[in-house]
Amino acid sequence: MITYNEPIRTIKLDTPHTSYVLGVLDGGFLLNLYYGRRLPDDDLWSLSNRLPSASFSPSDPEYPHFSQDASPMEYPTNGRGDFRVSALSVRCADGNSVTDMRYVSHRVFPGKPDLPGLPHLYAADDSLCDTLEVTMRDPYTGVEAVLVYTVFNDCDAISKHVRLTNRGELPVKLERALSSCVDLPSMKYDLITLWGRHAKERQFERRPLAHGLQGIRSKRGSSSHNQNPFAALAETGATETTGEVYGFNLVYSGNFTLTAEVDHNATTRVVMGIEPTDFCWALAPGESFVTPEAVHVFSAEGLGGMSRVFHRCYGEHLIRGRWKTEKRPLLINSWEAAYFDFDTEKLISFAARAKELGIGMLVMDDGWFGKRNNDKSSLGDWFVNEDKLDLGRLIDTVHGMGLKFGIWYEPEMISPDSELYREHPDWCVHVPGRTPSIARHQYVLDVSREDVRENVFGQIRAVMGRYPIDYVKWDFNRNISEAASATLPAERQGEFFHRFVLGTYELQDRLIREFPDLLFENCSGGGGRFDPGMLYYSPQIWASDNTDPIERLNIQFGTSLCYPASSVGAHVSACTRTGYRTKGDVALWGTFGYELDPNKLSDGDREIVKEQIAEYHKYYDLIRGGDLFRLICPWDDPFVCAWSFVSRDKREALVTLVRTLRQEETLLHLKLQGLRPDAIYTVEETGEKYSGALLMYAGLEMTGNPWDDGESCKVHLIAE
Ligand code: GLA
Repeated sequence: MITYNEPIRTIKLDTPHTSYVLGVLDGGFLLNLYYGRRLPDDDLWSLSNRLPSASFSPSDPEYPHFSQDASPMEYPTNGRGDFRVSALSVRCADGNSVTDMRYVSHRVFPGKPDLPGLPHLYAADDSLCDTLEVTMRDPYTGVEAVLVYTVFNDCDAISKHVRLTNRGELPVKLERALSSCVDLPSMKYDLITLWGRHAKERQFERRPLAHGLQGIRSKRGSSSHNQNPFAALAETGATETTGEVYGFNLVYSGNFTLTAEVDHNATTRVVMGIEPTDFCWALAPGESFVTPEAVHVFSAEGLGGMSRVFHRCYGEHLIRGRWKTEKRPLLINSWEAAYFDFDTEKLISFAARAKELGIGMLVMDDGWFGKRNNDKSSLGDWFVNEDKLDLGRLIDTVHGMGLKFGIWYEPEMISPDSELYREHPDWCVHVPGRTPSIARHQYVLDVSREDVRENVFGQIRAVMGRYPIDYVKWDFNRNISEAASATLPAERQGEFFHRFVLGTYELQDRLIREFPDLLFENCSGGGGRFDPGMLYYSPQIWASDNTDPIERLNIQFGTSLCYPASSVGAHVSACTRTGYRTKGDVALWGTFGYELDPNKLSDGDREIVKEQIAEYHKYYDLIRGGDLFRLICPWDDPFVCAWSFVSRDKREALVTLVRTLRQEETLLHLKLQGLRPDAIYTVEETGEKYSGALLMYAGLEMTGNPWDDGESCKVHLIAE
């Protein structure tokens, strides 16, 4: 719900449990007066009386008692007296970058507008959300900023983006065009972010805020393994279950910034959007630029509360298509089983064994196209390697067994050793006169170019149109250097990175539009592009090339800060760190599948795998539709890790516990969460009955079970 209080000029955005209040001051200054727990409507006038004064900070002479520098500015700009990090900086035709945005008008309407060409939250029908558009204008340059907010009435999330239009008469350049700013009147928060690297993605990190700048970014051309475009501010002392927490996530897959600045008044500003380094967007008169969308979540129920809001929001308002709700097939992927070393017969043997186990789909990973027998060639040559493979026979046989069939692509890349490169050497991302840098023997294909996208999509369509393919895994295996495009004029080279991302989005959009039944999974050397932008196109993303279940715990717990279980690509592999039971229990958290040669399973392991597959079906709805509770996090406890999925009606729960390190002291009363205190739950495995209150406040007795390093167990609870 969005309400405007005319006499005091406040605009209040309400979700079920949160409020976000804007204030319009004389002079058209737009303030971010409040964000937090839901407020009543009556006494909002008092919020704008709290502005501190600022010595040394310049003011507009018409409003000498108001200082932007000391106020919570809703869309702060550069060069007009607010010296903190700004959201917008426009270099005008005069050459200076002074920017000033003043309120002009606003309007409220039901539903949510699309962001053309960009991923975004959506609502199935207009009654689920309301949108506010605030129009602001810089009187000097004529640049207009329309701030667009949507509030959902079924979850505590607020989305924001900005539409910038040059309504002046001279060209300008956007040097910073961020999506959102939130100013909070305190610095008593910890900043939580997810750092990582290849095979170690989304590791939880928590640090108290300090005066000055702090934050994360990516300059790699993708959201990256190294920092995820997510951050939380947790009030000092907030835990999994208690305390106020703000969550911020950018719906974008390219370079991003997420910066917090604490000023001399101990207030905290958080801005997020496209990383300004290497960004400069020319805006001729009449042209517009739309920023990516930012998602904001507030919870007074700790980190767990925040995560569950993100999970529901993304499950309902981001993930799309047939596989949003339809049960997804359980897959086996050829990568760790065969790498590049396969042929038709070998894959048929995988499928035959997989079928015996109850697996529903075979995915043929890298190595089926061009002359690709290792990672040194053929990216860009997306035609079947007929020396190696009879794809028609393979798919017919696999389908004949009742299994679905999937395939791997890496469309935004080009190998120097490829027919495509020999034909079009200027199609790789490069700077003429400099040797292009290489990573994994490959260059990046310039998908900011329409002719390049036409070619690569034409090749994809030729294969996908000819063969009945049920699933695509879309990979992206290097970062972007020498960022430039052969077709952009010199003054527009600063647009390259964003144009590249828009090109990727257009390709993925075409793929899912032309093949709407496809189950689509994104990937980037594991989880290097695990972001909400990608989730808009593919309902699942391969979380990491690291399939070691103990290391996976950190990755999956970190990922769960923001992303729902249904999106987390997780497979059981042949890795030997633990037995199959633990590998299965950890993979069950995510999409679940196998990444191994099924011919090589021992008889005992084959039986465990069959049981796991039965469990996958048994718990599918509970895990996909339930709420996740992180009971013991790997960053809090080196010995044991536990989590649960609880059905929305709280009548069923699946609790999983992994002993990550053996310890002598094994007394453990595992305190559950999210149950009904007064309901009586039966433990399916033992028949014991406990009240929800006992399970949550005294804990489930787990002493000594499981006992050894890397062992796991599950407990299934059902209420009468
Ligand atoms: C990346 C992916 C792997 C696999 C290989 C193939 O590393 O993360 O799962 O697809 O590429 O080259």
